[in-house]
Parts: sequence; C-alpha cells; structure tokens
Amino acid sequence: MIFDTHAHYDDDWFDEDREALLRGLSSRGVDLVVNVGASMRGSRASVALSAEYPFVYASVGVHPDEAPSMTEADIEELRKLAAEKKVVAIGEIGFDYGHEDELTEEERDAQRAAQAYWFRRQLALAAELSLPVIIHSRGAEGDTLAVMREYAESLPGGIIHCFSGSPETAAAYRKLGFHIGVGGVITFKNARRLPDVVASAPLSQIVLETDAPYMAPVPYRGKRNDSGYLPLVAEKIALIKGVTPEEVIRVTRANACELFGVGCEESVS
Ligand code: NI
Repeated sequence: MIFDTHAHYDDDWFDEDREALLRGLSSRGVDLVVNVGASMRGSRASVALSAEYPFVYASVGVHPDEAPSMTEADIEELRKLAAEKKVVAIGEIGFDYGHEDELTEEERDAQRAAQAYWFRRQLALAAELSLPVIIHSRGAEGDTLAVMREYAESLPGGIIHCFSGSPETAAAYRKLGFHIGVGGVITFKNARRLPDVVASAPLSQIVLETDAPYMAPVPYRGKRNDSGYLPLVAEKIALIKGVTPEEVIRVTRANACELFGVGCEESVS
C-alpha cells in the first residue's frame, strides 16, 4: 500500500466530497497520508483531519508565501499543535522566490529576509521537538541547501518536497540525510531534470507525494489531484529505475514510515 507523504485535504477543492474521497483511498491502494499545513489555518485543519481519520497524520508549519506575516504567537501555537500525538513533522516551510516580478529590489530583499527568518525559526522548532521537516523550495535551490546544511545535524531528517533541483543537489541532500519528494511532475513531458534525479538517486532516498489538490499526474494534469493517482507516479519511477511499481511502492513506503515513525509494523513484507 502507498504512503502519500504530502497532501492538502483541508483545501476548499475537497469540500464537496472530502469524506467519501478519503474513505475510498484504501480501495485505490493508499493507506497512509500526511496532511501538510501551509498556513496557521491549514495547520489547525491538518491536526483536525488527523483526529478524524485513522490513516491521516499531520504536519504543521507555515509556507514561505505566508511566513513573512507570522508572529511569535504563531510559533507558540505551532509548538502546541506539534504536541498533538498524530503530528509527525514541521512543514511545509522554506523559500519561495516565485512571486518577485512586481517587486523592487529592496522589496524583494526584504521579502527574502523575512522568509529566511521564519524558515529558521520553524527549523529551530523542529530541532527542539525532534521532528522531521517538510521543505518547500521554489527558485531558491542554493539558498535552501545552504540553510538545510546549517540545520541537518540537529534534525531527524526530512523531505525536500516537489524536488526540482539537479541530480547534484539531490546527492547533497542525500549526504545530509534528507529524502526527496516525487509526485505528478515526474509524468509531465516537460519534467526537465527530474527524470535524471530519479535515475541517479537511490530508491531509498525517494518518497511519494501528491501535493493534492495540485500537481495531478498525466493524464489528469491540470485537474484536481488526490492520493489515488499515485500508482501512476510509482509506474513512471519504476520505468525510469527498471524495477517493478510494487518495489517502488514498497521501498518508498518503508522510507516514509521510518522517517515519520508511523506504520512501520505494516511495511515489513
Ligand atoms: Ni504542498
């Protein structure tokens, strides 16, 4: 069975059929999901979903797009939320340099500095609580790696979500003990470097993720994504690596179970 390490089932897009969809996932081969917070509201919602569904776990954290408006009170609330027993990670946190076109150089620098400040504060929280991290990095490959180098030793691992870097960067993260998250993008014709990354990274470094409702794999690209489409991602990884989809599912699940410390007993095959 598949472990989806990154989904956002608190998103409005699931309002009309959330319960039916989640309850139907096991019949589509998925039996473990981490619902990832991207805002304070999303972090609270992730914890609520994890309380409602036995197979859903939660990650709490604030995405770089929202991080600049964080406060100390938010860090305190994240610390409290992280104490809930099904919270398995801090994230998604990181850098996003994707919305800088309209900014002056000064505004851009201020935004990057604010993202860096709250990214580090949340990494420090993860280190303090001994929780793995889920990292979002867009257009910031070098800066993200530099910050992760600072914190790697004090963290029990983590996932570089929706990995878009080079094979060399993936190897650098491997040395630091981090996994790379691979999702629907691997099925896109314009996936650029990702097939090379998947070819060169050992399966032991890869975890499966959807980023649902976004990043649906081909042939559903552009439509609403959900964890039930992950077999398409596993098939593509299997093709690249010359192994069976079952092997991809088994190893990536074991990786995620070990990282998050959940479901390990069922992953032994
Ligand atoms: Ni996400």
